[in-house]
Amino acid sequence: MGWRNNIRCRDIRARCSLTVPVLFAALLFLWILDQSYIHSGTLFKREFYSTLFQSSYRGTPTEGSDWRASSMPKNCDIFSGEWVYDDNLPLYSSCKFAERGFLCHRNGRPDLAYQKWRWRPHGCALPRFDALDMLNRLNGSRVVFVGDSMGRTQWESLCCILLQAVADKSSAKLIHGPISKVTPFLRARFLTNNLSVDYYRSPFLVAGGSDVPARSPKRVVGTLKLEKMGRIGANWHKADILIINTGHWWTSTKTYDRGVYFEMGKQLMRGMKVDAAHLRALKTVTSWVSDNVDFNRTQVFFRSFEPSHWTMAFSRLPLNSSTYRMVYPHAQHLFEALELNSSPAMLLNVTALSSYRPDGHVFNYTRSSVPLDCAHWCLPGVPDTWNQLMYYSLLIRAKGPWA
Ligand SMILES: *[C@@H]1O[C@H](CO)[C@@H](O)[C@H](O)[C@H]1NC(C)=O
Ligand SMILES: *[C@@H]1O[C@H](CO)[C@@H](O)[C@H](O)[C@H]1NC(C)=O
Ligand SMILES: *[C@@H]1O[C@H](CO)[C@@H](O)[C@H](O)[C@H]1NC(C)=O
Ligand SMILES: *[C@@H]1O[C@H](CO)[C@@H](O)[C@H](O)[C@H]1NC(C)=O
Ligand SMILES: *[C@@H]1O[C@H](CO)[C@@H](O)[C@H](O)[C@H]1NC(C)=O
Ligand SMILES: *[C@@H]1O[C@H](CO)[C@@H](O)[C@H](O)[C@H]1NC(C)=O
Repeated sequence: MGWRNNIRCRDIRARCSLTVPVLFAALLFLWILDQSYIHSGTLFKREFYSTLFQSSYRGTPTEGSDWRASSMPKNCDIFSGEWVYDDNLPLYSSCKFAERGFLCHRNGRPDLAYQKWRWRPHGCALPRFDALDMLNRLNGSRVVFVGDSMGRTQWESLCCILLQAVADKSSAKLIHGPISKVTPFLRARFLTNNLSVDYYRSPFLVAGGSDVPARSPKRVVGTLKLEKMGRIGANWHKADILIINTGHWWTSTKTYDRGVYFEMGKQLMRGMKVDAAHLRALKTVTSWVSDNVDFNRTQVFFRSFEPSHWTMAFSRLPLNSSTYRMVYPHAQHLFEALELNSSPAMLLNVTALSSYRPDGHVFNYTRSSVPLDCAHWCLPGVPDTWNQLMYYSLLIRAKGPWA
C-alpha cells in the first residue's frame, strides 16, 4: 500500500486561500476574454473553468434542459465522453440506503467536488436525468443486482436516487438487511410504486463450495466450479431488470491464497491462471443467462469492471479523459465473453469513465479499520453515474415501460 507514502494530495483549497486576490483578478480577466470569445466554440473553456473554479462553475444551462425521453439520441456511445463539473449535483445528500462506510463527507472528507461531476458523452447531449421519471417507469417492477460489493454500492446508489423522487420517505423501506458487506440478500421496497430493488451477493457468480475433488492437496479448502452457475441464479432470473457484475475477487489473494482453487469437469485445475478462470466463469454466466433468462421479460445488463486506483496519487480532480489511457484485463474478459455470446444483454461499459475518477474513491474516509480504500466509491458519487447510464440505456432501447 504505497499510496499513502506517495501521496501527492493536490490540496487546492489551501493554495486558493493564499491566492484569492490573484484568482479574482484572473477570473475577471477570463470573464472579459470569455465574453469576447463566446461564439468561438472553445470546448476547452469548460474544462479549464471547472478545474480552476470548482465551486463557482455551473453546468451549461442549455444542456440537459430537454426532459423528453423521446429526445434520446439513438446512435450514441454514451460511455465515451468526459466529466464536466455541475453544481446541480449531487442527486441526493443524506440517504438511509447508503452504508456509513461510503458516506465520505460524513466520514470527514472535506472537499465536495467529487460529488459534482456529470458524465457527458462526446457524441450526443443527454436529456437531463429525471429520477421521478425513472421511478414511475419502474412501477410494479423488480430490479435485481447480483455481484460483488460494487454491485451493492450500485444498489445503494439506485435506492438513494429513487428515494429522492419519493414524497413520503418513510414509504420506502429496507425489507431485508442489514446493509453490510456480508449480507447475502438485500431488498428495498418502494411501496408507492410497488417496486422492489434487490441485491444478491455473489462475488464470483459461478458455483463454489468446500466439496473439493477427491485426492486434492490439503491446502485446497474449496473450489470454484467454473462451468456451473451459482445456485443463487434461481432467485433472480425472473427480474424485470437484472444487473450483473463481477471482477474484484478474481485475484490470487482472494482465491489461491485462501485455498480456493478452480474446478472444471470435476477436475482440480492446478496452476490455472486466475485471469483464465475469470474468463471461463464469465462465459458460463453469459451463456447461462442466454439459456435461462426470458429476454422478453427481463432487461439484462452486464456491468463492466470498475477500476481501482491503488497505484495512483490521491487526487481531488478527475483525470483528463482525452489523455488518460489504461487497459484493464478484467474488463476485457467481460467484453470477450459478451462478444462470443450473441444474447440481447446490454453492456454498462463503465470501465473507462470510472478510470478517470481516482478522486471518487473512499480513500481513508470510511468507518472500518482499513487504512485506505482505493477500490470502493464514495456516495453520492461515481456509482450514481452507472445508474444514470443504465436509465439512459433503457430509454435508448425503448422496450415496454421504457418506450
Ligand atoms: C485534456 O487534454 C487535452 C489534450 O491534451 C487538452 O487539450 C485539454 O486542455 C486537457 N483538459 C484539461 C482539463 O486539462
Ligand atoms: C468501452 O468504452 C470505452 C471508452 O469509450 C471504449 O474504448 C471500449 O471500446 C468500450 N468497450 C466496449 C466493449 O464497448
Ligand atoms: C403505479 O402503480 C400503482 C399501482 O401499483 C398505480 O396506482 C400508480 O398510479 C402507478 N403510478 C404510475 C406513475 O404509473
Ligand atoms: C405489484 O407488482 C407485482 C409484479 O411485480 C404484481 O404482481 C402485483 O399485482 C402488483 N401489486 C399492485 C398492488 O399493483
Ligand atoms: C418473445 O417475444 C417475441 C415477439 O413477441 C416472440 O416471438 C417470442 O416467442 C418471445 N420469446 C419468449 C421466450 O417468450
Ligand atoms: C485521511 O488522510 C488525509 C490526508 O492524508 C488526512 O488529512 C485525514 O486526516 C485522514 N482522515 C481520516 C478520517 O483518517
